[in-house]
Amino acid sequence: MKVIVTNSYDESCAVVAGMIRDLVNAKPNAKLGLATGGTPVPIYQKLAQMNQAGEVDFSQVHTVNLDEYCGLPGTHEQSYRYFMNTHLFHKININHANTYVPNGTEPDAEKACQAYNELLHKIGPADIQILGLGHDGHIGFNEPSDHFENETDCVDLTETTIQANKRFFDSEKDVPKQAYTMGIGTIMRCRKILVVVSGKDKAEILKQVIQGPVTPEVPGSILQFHPDCMIIADEAALSEMAV
Ligand code: F6R
Repeated sequence: MKVIVTNSYDESCAVVAGMIRDLVNAKPNAKLGLATGGTPVPIYQKLAQMNQAGEVDFSQVHTVNLDEYCGLPGTHEQSYRYFMNTHLFHKININHANTYVPNGTEPDAEKACQAYNELLHKIGPADIQILGLGHDGHIGFNEPSDHFENETDCVDLTETTIQANKRFFDSEKDVPKQAYTMGIGTIMRCRKILVVVSGKDKAEILKQVIQGPVTPEVPGSILQFHPDCMIIADEAALSEMAV
């Protein structure tokens, strides 16, 4: 695990956007693993600007997203498909048929997970996977548990996650209670993982992820075992530890 300390969240996002641009320029048909939530928004803004300035071409890129809320169609403003369309896919020259998000409207969880697994097997491991970090240590929506889930799973969101994500909804009761998420095993098979963490409110959990024991109770701690994982964090996020 390599830790990159930046002066600001914006600098962290610029570092990650630059790494993605360089990957796609070197490998035009790169596979990108993407995240949603607040953290990656400036990364996507920067990638859209780079694309519009002719610095990077996404026409042959494939993307796979980490997760989707159960029950939300892609037209719902809080679905992760809608998020990806508005923050990135509609702003770059990607072929929309090559962008994948789990199907939140499939009520049969087994079917939904199996379909996403088949797709992930077909596409193969992402060249770069972007991750944010939940306040409870989740990556994707792999919540604290007694085991690490290998492949796509239907999870119950924890109270901490529901509280953190209610800011995007009209009210807390509108936050879906379940999500489909890529498994920890799939995330660990990605070639390179970039975790962006910002702010003092993530400092305690980031310390556990980097320096604590590897345990499914802190799902992000498994990243200590990844051969090419970078944590890109501002000083506030690293304030609980000496780096
Ligand atoms: C989003 C995801 C989550 C978020 C995490 C942090 O696709 O998988 O793990 O990365 O909840 O969310 P923010 O960035 O909103 O703090």
